[in-house]
Amino acid sequence: MVALGIDLGTSSCRVGVWKHDHVEIITNEHGNRATPCYVSMVANKCVIGEEAKRQVPSYPQNTIFNAKRFIGRKFNDLEVQSVMKYYPFDLFSKDGRPYVTIERQGQQDFSAEEISSVILKKMKSLGEVHLGVPCEDVVITVPCYFTDAQRRATQNAAKLAGLKVLRLLNDSTAAVIANGLASDRDLESDEHRILVIGLGAGALDVTSVQDQWGVFEVETVAGDCHLGGEDFDDRLVFHFVQEFWSQHQKDISLDPRALWRLRAECERAKCALSSATRADIALEYLHDGIDFYSSITRAQFEAICSDLFQRILDRVEKVLRNKDSVAEVILAGGSTRIPYIQTMISKLVCGKLPVKNLNPETVATGAAVMAAVLSGNLSPKLEDTLALDVASFSLGIQTAGGVMTHVISSSATIPTRKSEIFTTYADNQSSLIFRVFEGDNERANDNNLLGIFELSDIPPAPRGVPRIEVRFDIDANNILDVTAFDQNTGRMKGVTVSGPAQNHAMDDSYQQFMDEDAGTRVKKTLDWYTSNLRLLITEDKLPGTVKASEKASLESAVKRAEEFLSMAEKEGPNVERYEEMQQMLETTSLSILRKHGTAPS
Ligand SMILES: Nc1ncnc2c1ncn2[C@@H]1O[C@H](COP(=O)(O)OP(=O)(O)OP(=O)(O)O)[C@@H](O)[C@H]1O
Ligand SMILES: [Mg+2]
Repeated sequence: MVALGIDLGTSSCRVGVWKHDHVEIITNEHGNRATPCYVSMVANKCVIGEEAKRQVPSYPQNTIFNAKRFIGRKFNDLEVQSVMKYYPFDLFSKDGRPYVTIERQGQQDFSAEEISSVILKKMKSLGEVHLGVPCEDVVITVPCYFTDAQRRATQNAAKLAGLKVLRLLNDSTAAVIANGLASDRDLESDEHRILVIGLGAGALDVTSVQDQWGVFEVETVAGDCHLGGEDFDDRLVFHFVQEFWSQHQKDISLDPRALWRLRAECERAKCALSSATRADIALEYLHDGIDFYSSITRAQFEAICSDLFQRILDRVEKVLRNKDSVAEVILAGGSTRIPYIQTMISKLVCGKLPVKNLNPETVATGAAVMAAVLSGNLSPKLEDTLALDVASFSLGIQTAGGVMTHVISSSATIPTRKSEIFTTYADNQSSLIFRVFEGDNERANDNNLLGIFELSDIPPAPRGVPRIEVRFDIDANNILDVTAFDQNTGRMKGVTVSGPAQNHAMDDSYQQFMDEDAGTRVKKTLDWYTSNLRLLITEDKLPGTVKASEKASLESAVKRAEEFLSMAEKEGPNVERYEEMQQMLETTSLSILRKHGTAPS
């Protein structure tokens, strides 16, 4: 089965495949190796790529680009709010998510996932035409700092496009794989650490990777999935919108067509400033019949973007700080061509290390290599290639005092599974609420809340007695799955933090519990339940409002259960009778405890 590697960028998308012992980057119908991530929908026609990009001036509100900047985000995210003003299409909130609305044969709404799926479908079909066979399997690259929600949304987009994701691979890991394969390595001695700085149109990734003879182990990641070339373009657009205003007292940000033309011209000028010190802006009839001519120097551009550049350098420094053994720095992504960024990075490594600029196809190449490896391609060239990624964020649970208890740290190699035991903090507490966060901050609320779930029906017990195992599973795509499991009753609650429910049957200790024969299971549960209630009675931990008569009936129910347990011990297991006794005990105890507010309703 052939699998494709797709670099789904913010500005453009590339698809590659391993064929005849090397990666082929597949060209589109125009002969281009990169397809712009633009989708234009007018009347009953949907066009993608170059054609769509050309349609922006004519149909600014029907042509969507930069969907990657919105995918998996909430409408209220600061990042979404801060840039939407400068896009010619309209974004609005639907179920808290950003959607675009397109007027064609009536109004239609599209999510970022749906727009991305249109692009992925196009890439799929380019691959199929090139190979002459249907292709479903794919490796898609994403920024290291993509959150759980962004990764899930990307997977969902692939699913909508009819693709099966073998792996969501971090951009920089893909770059290292491709770089490693391209360089002639001395397999005996070539074990070294590489620092990858990826800066494209929308995201920054800084990664340190240990290369051990083709096994790439990612060690640290830092980054920002909303920091890249588009932000520099936004700054330039803002600069010239103001200049136009001061010259003519007219706001072109309200004119989608003018805004788009200005944006395209700003990007062109920005790229020109990487090789020249001055760039001109020339836009005839930009707005209300007014021509706009201006220029910008490299120094001005650097000043306008200085805080963004500083943010990039801070991230790089963070990863470099503890890494004195870095042997090589590699730069990937279009925006690393900016001279200021290159100079500052050279300064950071004190000019001592080689700084290598990779070509724009490196990420797609790495994705195609990984796709070949994962689909079982037996090429000897790929024999030693293995990539071990790390968790992008620390993950944990909010505990007492709003503190974040980390269950998985951000440097853990994935896939990984870790669990922690939690317990109740009040006597007879019947449920526990878990708030799951991603992020490195100590205060839970300073991190990103992924989801909330409740494990209920915990049998009455003194505080601290129940043992609730909460397990975090991160798969190789950096997607998280959380399960909570009551070790004493076998009750389990699975949470897929967002997205579709997963199959929790794979959970080991849950499986162990379920694997025990039914007789042992029912006995364990009844044993546990009875001894808990006994403890509550003897240690006087029943709610103060429980009447003497209620306490007496509780006590008699517990006594019956204890007698049954010791008798059943001798007689051998009888599942049905255990279940009947469990039912009796639960009915009696819960009817009393519920009345006094200590059991779930
Ligand atoms: N010579 C240049 N100087 C400055 N910027 C450049 C240059 N060439 C390309 N860029 C910018 O690089 C960006 C495109 O790079 P790239 O193709 O790596 O990004 P992407 O993969 O689409 O985005 P991302 O990976 O961030 O999602 C654009 O913002 C483009 O303007
Ligand atoms: Mg990219």
